[in-house]
Amino acid sequence: MTLDKRIYLDHAATTPLDPRVLETMLPYLTEFWGNPSSLYLEAREARRGLDNARKTVAETLGCKTQEIVFTSGGSESDNLAIRGVAYGNRRRGSHIITTAIEHHAVLHTFERLEKEGFTVTYLPVDREGFVDLKALEEAVTAETSLVSIMYANNEVGTIEPIAEAARIVKERNPHCVFHTDGVQAVGALDVNIDRLGVDLFSLTAHKFYGPKGFGALYVRSRTPFLPQTLGGSQERDRRAGTENIAGAVGLAKALEMAYDEFEQRNAHSAALRDRLLTDVPRFTPKVRINGTTDLDRRLANNASFAFEYVEGEAILMALDLAGIAASSGSACTSGSLEPSHVLTAMGVPLEIARGSVRLTVGKDNTMEEIDRMLEVLPNVVARLRSLSPLAGAAEAARAGTGRG
Ligand SMILES: Cc1ncc(COP(=O)(O)O)c(C=O)c1O
Repeated sequence: MTLDKRIYLDHAATTPLDPRVLETMLPYLTEFWGNPSSLYLEAREARRGLDNARKTVAETLGCKTQEIVFTSGGSESDNLAIRGVAYGNRRRGSHIITTAIEHHAVLHTFERLEKEGFTVTYLPVDREGFVDLKALEEAVTAETSLVSIMYANNEVGTIEPIAEAARIVKERNPHCVFHTDGVQAVGALDVNIDRLGVDLFSLTAHKFYGPKGFGALYVRSRTPFLPQTLGGSQERDRRAGTENIAGAVGLAKALEMAYDEFEQRNAHSAALRDRLLTDVPRFTPKVRINGTTDLDRRLANNASFAFEYVEGEAILMALDLAGIAASSGSACTSGSLEPSHVLTAMGVPLEIARGSVRLTVGKDNTMEEIDRMLEVLPNVVARLRSLSPLAGAAEAARAGTGRG
């Protein structure tokens, strides 16, 4: 099957590079390849490209240009934010807080800091994936130097009440720094820094039709911060290394387009998502929706399901053969039988969590593609269940012929 006939429903994993973004980037790979720290023409153009990109990012977030640090993507932004503040603000205390449902770029960084002597609180979430704000309020003490709570979850699309969480933290301890992983939120939600009230915000270009391997970290002025990559004085001494100008220009163009086309992209995604959330359970028995059904508090592009008596991985392989790309949720790395830490934290029973499939739509998906998905998926699930001894045993138990 050729790639153009395939149906791509995994936009939370990554998005294709928009041709308009590529076009903006190309001159910075072919013509203006100079080192922006140098003084000649090639360098000056590169510098101009970098400065303009930073200006666009700052305008979108509503912050100052000097508060933007360019990085190699979401993982680096998260690592830099968390380690940078944990060590930069250590004199205020070594208690740090995050949630149980963060991306591994955050969770593994907290686990490492725990090994390095920090005390970590992992906040619980409810069945829909919302962080427990009462637990947050109780957890913040005078010793707490950092709180990191994601803006929107990559597996189940739950949108966390970040502004409220930041307010609670600051009321309890004004010296405590607040970071949010905004990777899945950019293009889908309001990212104005002052309305959110956060001190650090991570983002990455490839989730909104920009290039992979390029991101940014917003760092509020005067935030206690210890750089993690040492060398030259780039990024105002906060992240050394010759800048990736094409990446910066691409990120800025993609960001600008995401907010210029914000209403129409999100309305389009929501229509496709709503169809999936309504019709997948209608056409397939024994399926649950993962995450919230309060659609205003769920990312417009996310539909996640747990199918009973079948492995998510098996569904994905069958969908792939039928020309459809989907995901089992980022935590379920191929070959691993570990259930997703997000679903586990939400209290989804292990045997059900294993049948999870995440469908994330994008601006170029069509309703015809969703129709096709709705034709294929129920058949795939029915066929796999007919082969599953678990489904057979449960059916027999229900019919009273088995021993349960
Ligand atoms: C919520 C979240 N944070 C961080 C990342 C990591 O971003 P990157 O792939 O740019 O390193 C991702 C990517 O899947 C994500 O979904």
